[in-house]
Amino acid sequence: MKVIHDLNEIYAQLDFVRCDSKRIGLVPTMGALHEGHLSLVRRAKQDCDVVVATIFVNPTQFGPNEDLSKYPRTLESDMASLRLAECDFVFVPASDQIYRKEHSTYVDPPSVSTRWEGELRPGHFRGVATIVLKLFQLIPAHVAYFGRKDYQQVAVIRSMVDDLNVPIRIETCPTVREADGLAMSSRNRYLSEQDRPRALGLWRALCKAQSSLNAGIQSVAELEAAMHSELLAAQVDYVDYATIVHPDTLEPMMQVGESAVALIAAKVGSTRLIDNMTLLPPIQRSNEGSN
Ligand code: PAF
Repeated sequence: MKVIHDLNEIYAQLDFVRCDSKRIGLVPTMGALHEGHLSLVRRAKQDCDVVVATIFVNPTQFGPNEDLSKYPRTLESDMASLRLAECDFVFVPASDQIYRKEHSTYVDPPSVSTRWEGELRPGHFRGVATIVLKLFQLIPAHVAYFGRKDYQQVAVIRSMVDDLNVPIRIETCPTVREADGLAMSSRNRYLSEQDRPRALGLWRALCKAQSSLNAGIQSVAELEAAMHSELLAAQVDYVDYATIVHPDTLEPMMQVGESAVALIAAKVGSTRLIDNMTLLPPIQRSNEGSN
């Protein structure tokens, strides 16, 4: 596995790989890697000839009240995990390489960024869209892999790629969960022993939405109420949103028809968690398992 810190070197090495007609898969990360990230690397290994992971804690996607300095940095163990997963290249740039002193150009994110995380974390998706576009420019990959746990993030990236005609395919991979259902996240390490069982409330609320739908409830207001009461029962500390939206536009819906997605953001202790589940009519749910 080659570890590269320099912008010009990563582009030159991969341009060479591309000229050799090899397919390149890209897995952008902010480090603090867990099984979710490694599943993206493994999927990229299946699809592509060469896999590149990036580790960069992107300052522009953190708001003024979100502590960038507290974001977990576990570079040594990240490298060991990527080596085990047989990643070919890791790009670990310094912040001043990515954002030069004069940097003043940002991506105005698409409309799908407006609600939910976009509303609660102003500027977050502007930072995400900007860094992801920069990584797509620096790393001439054919396919980029993202986890569906960050449902809105993937919607924003897909929309940006379509709007700006970026020549890359976006693959969304299933959320990896702990045995009890908790979605893997770099933030789970901040959950205390008391928080951990309460954090399961998000998964329980999502399952409740699906089981209520299976029982014939299609009204979004009723399904959202069911999710809220499950979150309350689990004693999560604060619910930012527990909502059911259109899977593409992320706009609110009145009734669940063909397909919808349930999105939750909630605080457990001092840790803010997000999770989601695609809600399918009962007959489809038994044939699919994509969450
Ligand atoms: O999901 C993440 O880890 C980050 O938002 C990403 C896509 C790597 C951009 O910094």
